[in-house]
Amino acid sequence: MITVHDKAALRSWISLCRQQGQRIGLAPTMGNLHAGHLRLLEKLRPHCDRIVCSIFVNPTQFAAHEDFGSYPRTLEADQIKLEQAGCDLVFAPSANVMYNGHTDQLTRVVVRNMENLLCGASRPGHFQGVATVVSKLFNLVQPDVACFGEKDFQQLSLLRQMTLDLDFPITIVSCPTEREADGLAMSSRNQYLSPEERQRAPMLYRTLQQMRDAILQGNRDYRMLETAATGLLDKSGFVTDYFSIADANTLQPAESTTSDLLVAVAARLGSTRLIDNLTLCNKKA
Ligand code: PAF
Repeated sequence: MITVHDKAALRSWISLCRQQGQRIGLAPTMGNLHAGHLRLLEKLRPHCDRIVCSIFVNPTQFAAHEDFGSYPRTLEADQIKLEQAGCDLVFAPSANVMYNGHTDQLTRVVVRNMENLLCGASRPGHFQGVATVVSKLFNLVQPDVACFGEKDFQQLSLLRQMTLDLDFPITIVSCPTEREADGLAMSSRNQYLSPEERQRAPMLYRTLQQMRDAILQGNRDYRMLETAATGLLDKSGFVTDYFSIADANTLQPAESTTSDLLVAVAARLGSTRLIDNLTLCNKKA
């Protein structure tokens, strides 16, 4: 496995692979890798000959008050994990390299309709930053296939839409959420939780499961279920950003006739913002 920090080295490695007729898979990450990230590589493996993992804490997807400065940067430990997981190349550029000297570059990629709801409502500009950096990665790596985790369901939907709309010849593969034994979705941000918050955190997933069960038992009053779930979480010490039962295809609020449902939540525990979701098919609606 090699690590490159500049675009020229990445491009020449990619063109060598291409000359040899190899298919390339890309796992974009912000590093501080856990088992969920390594699953992305496992998912890619059957679809490609070479795996590229990018590690880049992207400044344009963080608001000024967010955790860009404190986001854990653990390149050496990540390299060891990636090597063991069969990664071929790590692309770890600086912000200067990635954004050609100015993060405030003039071009932004906007996926309209999908960027201002759910997480986008409380993180204005976040998904523009994500769509822009992933477009740049797609252009640099030119992968045949790219893999994203289902924990960031809105990100996954938006990037699928972007790939379609901008005619990137890339297959997007998704990877189910990896969970701790108590159900908490794996996230680099879990390490911000105090021991007491960590004990309470699995309540997020339990509440999602409770609402899913209510839906499966025939409850179609989604707005009432959202209010009930928010109440449960707030009572357990979370500050709920949203609890939403949405159409999994459009991310818009679900109606009683919607068949593909997304039950999604974002909530703060202390200063840590956690997200999670479940999808379900509501065929009898
Ligand atoms: O999901 C992430 O880690 C990031 O949003 C991504 C896709 C690597 C873009 O910076």
